[in-house]
Amino acid sequence: MRVVIIGGSGHVGTYLAPRLVEAGYEVIAISRGQREPYQPHAAWRAVQHVTLDRAAEEAASSFGPRVRALQPDVVIDMICFRLESARHLVEALHGHVQHFLHCGTIWVHGPSVVAPTTEEQPRRPFGDYGVQKAAIEAYLLDQARRCGFPATVLHPGHIVGPGWRPVNPAGNFNPQVFARLARGEAVALPNLGMETVHHVHADDVAQSFMQALAHWSTAIGQSFHVVSPAALTLRGYAEATAAWFGQTAELRFLPWEDWRATVSEEEARATWDHIAHSPNCSIAKAERLLDYRPRYSSLQAVYEALAWLIEHGVVDVGSTAVSS
Ligand SMILES: NC(=O)c1ccc[n+]([C@@H]2O[C@H](COP(=O)([O-])OP(=O)(O)OC[C@H]3O[C@@H](n4cnc5c(N)ncnc54)[C@H](OP(=O)(O)O)[C@@H]3O)[C@@H](O)[C@H]2O)c1
Repeated sequence: MRVVIIGGSGHVGTYLAPRLVEAGYEVIAISRGQREPYQPHAAWRAVQHVTLDRAAEEAASSFGPRVRALQPDVVIDMICFRLESARHLVEALHGHVQHFLHCGTIWVHGPSVVAPTTEEQPRRPFGDYGVQKAAIEAYLLDQARRCGFPATVLHPGHIVGPGWRPVNPAGNFNPQVFARLARGEAVALPNLGMETVHHVHADDVAQSFMQALAHWSTAIGQSFHVVSPAALTLRGYAEATAAWFGQTAELRFLPWEDWRATVSEEEARATWDHIAHSPNCSIAKAERLLDYRPRYSSLQAVYEALAWLIEHGVVDVGSTAVSS
């Protein structure tokens, strides 16, 4: 079986391509060739790389035909962000592939009504990214159910792994929040710190793609949340992080308008995006239909990412040692 991964060298592709090779697939990874996977793996030697710029190819209406010309049985689309991109690809691949897997996002949901959020709940996305991803999901599921296009949509939470910065306990990407908690210094959180984030380890996202391939008949025409078993409150996340370093978190809680004045505009924007969504998603459907079994809790995934940041000097925790 030939699998084409569009965007195969990123957070998820780093784990997914080796899993596919090990499972016996012939793997073709499309990218612009600008970056390497986060982790080396011998399996990459068996991966065929195809250098293509999706944006440029789409502008020339040649992207879909070029993917089809690779003669894939399966296409995994990691980097589709606009409805017209999805449409272009589906039109080129209809009738030519056995399975099409799209990487979505839990941002297809807006604020939760019932928590944990299930896939069945009505979509109330906000922000261009979530709105586009929800439109892509609706289009692909319609194509699957009405026209027999073999699409599955997998919706990751905040993807975590060694090599990049995870969403921190203040809901943004400033690694110094981890350092301050590790050194026992005061950290301010917005509101009561009870808003939530929902991480997932990149290898668990890769696992979900493998499980969807293995459960073809129940995966097609469906979307699935791909997150850790449970979301974290910012407060609980901060307390757990401090505890890894033998500290008690010294937390202050500020109303949003006061809190945002304590951080950069970029940090405030990221935190707002996370707490306005406050994701808390159910994995019951993926467990039931795909036998998805995440290996990492949110804290275990972050712990691994943080250990990497410390080892590589991005986070300076002083003399405190990390302990699990
Ligand atoms: N990051 C998160 O926390 C998060 C959360 C939920 C959902 N998601 C979803 O995850 C997906 C992204 O997956 P990821 O995080 O594994 O990807 P990623 O780390 O952003 O990597 C992107 C991949 O696509 C390639 N690429 C980028 N632009 C390209 C272009 N114009 N043409 C061809 N290749 C291109 C990159 O390689 P080159 O740069 O070498 O081209 C790389 O292989 C998206 O659909 C996103 O919505 C992400």
